[in-house]
Amino acid sequence: MAQPPAAGPPRRTLHIETYGCQMNVYDSQRMAELLAPLGYTQAENRDNADMVILNTCHIRERATEKVFSELGRLREIKEERAPAGRAMKIVVAGCVAQAEGAEILRRAPAVDLVIGPRSYHRLPELIARAARESGERLATDFAAEEKFDELPKTRHAEGVAAFLSIQEGCDKFCTFCVVPYTRGAEFSRSVASIIEEAEGLVAQGVRELTLLGQNVNAYHGAGPDGAEWSFARLLRRLARIEGLARLRYTTSHPLEMTDELIGLHGEEPKLMPYLHLPVQSGSDRILKAMNRKHDAGVYRSIVEKLRAARPDIALSTDLIVGFPGEKAADFEETLALVREIGFASAFSFKYSRRPGTPAAAMPGQVAEAEKTERLARLQKLLSEQQRAFNVAQIGRVLPVLVAGPGRKPGQAQGRSPYLQGVHFEARPEIGAETPVRIVGATMSSLTGVLA
Ligand code: 5AD
Ligand code: SF4
Repeated sequence: MAQPPAAGPPRRTLHIETYGCQMNVYDSQRMAELLAPLGYTQAENRDNADMVILNTCHIRERATEKVFSELGRLREIKEERAPAGRAMKIVVAGCVAQAEGAEILRRAPAVDLVIGPRSYHRLPELIARAARESGERLATDFAAEEKFDELPKTRHAEGVAAFLSIQEGCDKFCTFCVVPYTRGAEFSRSVASIIEEAEGLVAQGVRELTLLGQNVNAYHGAGPDGAEWSFARLLRRLARIEGLARLRYTTSHPLEMTDELIGLHGEEPKLMPYLHLPVQSGSDRILKAMNRKHDAGVYRSIVEKLRAARPDIALSTDLIVGFPGEKAADFEETLALVREIGFASAFSFKYSRRPGTPAAAMPGQVAEAEKTERLARLQKLLSEQQRAFNVAQIGRVLPVLVAGPGRKPGQAQGRSPYLQGVHFEARPEIGAETPVRIVGATMSSLTGVLA
């Protein structure tokens, strides 16, 4: 039987008034394309439109005054419509916006957003932010299945290790990513609810907790004392739970690696010496186009501080190759950064266009064959690093959290502090942290004997 259509948020209409040159005509088309995936279709008539964009031109005499008088008329329409609950958003774009932005906001308070031509790529972000503030939902056209949008969910204890969701959503708006649109604004659970769930899991035999969130280290939930708790403070509190042996968290954004959090890696033994910290690219130019808000130097210095605090910390990362505008030289910078840092493991992806994200509309899309070649070169390097990291464990004694019997009879298996699977000869004492001498390593796992 056919499914009835899902009753999503209403579709919205967009009317763009374009003044001036051919460049503005082109930009208006681009703005319409950028907003289509947020549910906006173009309307001929401005009187009924949910959003009106004035794409202005500064060349003619008295251009600014003309914009203000047009804004006066739009304000009247906006005010007439308000009592019926049909809000109209007014956006001023183009060269007058660039030149007179502050003046427009001061003189025309009915304007919701002023955006200059250099910032059009941020239009989806700004519209999504404004919608969040007014509590409105956007009818996004993002595909329901989003492989980049997934996190494992809080799982009930089946074994010794469990995931616990503490945070959802993201306010970072990397230009390639759908999460800020599909998952919405950053939201942190309360400290009390997290502690309760963590204690419940530990009571069922869980010994290792992985705290989850799209931007987990941006956590800022309400504490029982009424204050907002930082992520480091939450970790410190969770570490006090008796019976809990190990804490991990994923995924982090470099900008939220505070000194407090970095310091905690050196102070709290339950915090495992393994961190997944996506960098995405080694090129400052590409990082800027990605709106990552950090450059390669910032990433390097975070890693340096982490290693100073916890010398045995191992790092994992996410990388994208073939982001729009990525030249051979940018890609070489990514390889150089990876060589320099040395990752214990990594996820790497070919850039894939997600309609509705700013990067999807950027010029300089990279050819598929080029992406494939870059990804192969990057993955070769990453595999070598992963293998070298595993091989470097041979001869060391690692504490292994035993999860169950191993593949072969007489074997137990569990995880090292670095998340490697370890198989070793022993009776499986589930939940014990057992010292194991590592005798063998492959790309994906370790073997050992009881130490
Ligand atoms: N194309 C390629 N990789 C992406 N990621 C997210 N969106 C995209 C995209 N459009 C990757 C990023 C992120 C990881 C979860 O998925 O590297 O960190
Ligand atoms: Fe997406 Fe992560 Fe960037 Fe947020 S920080 S927009 S989840 S890639």
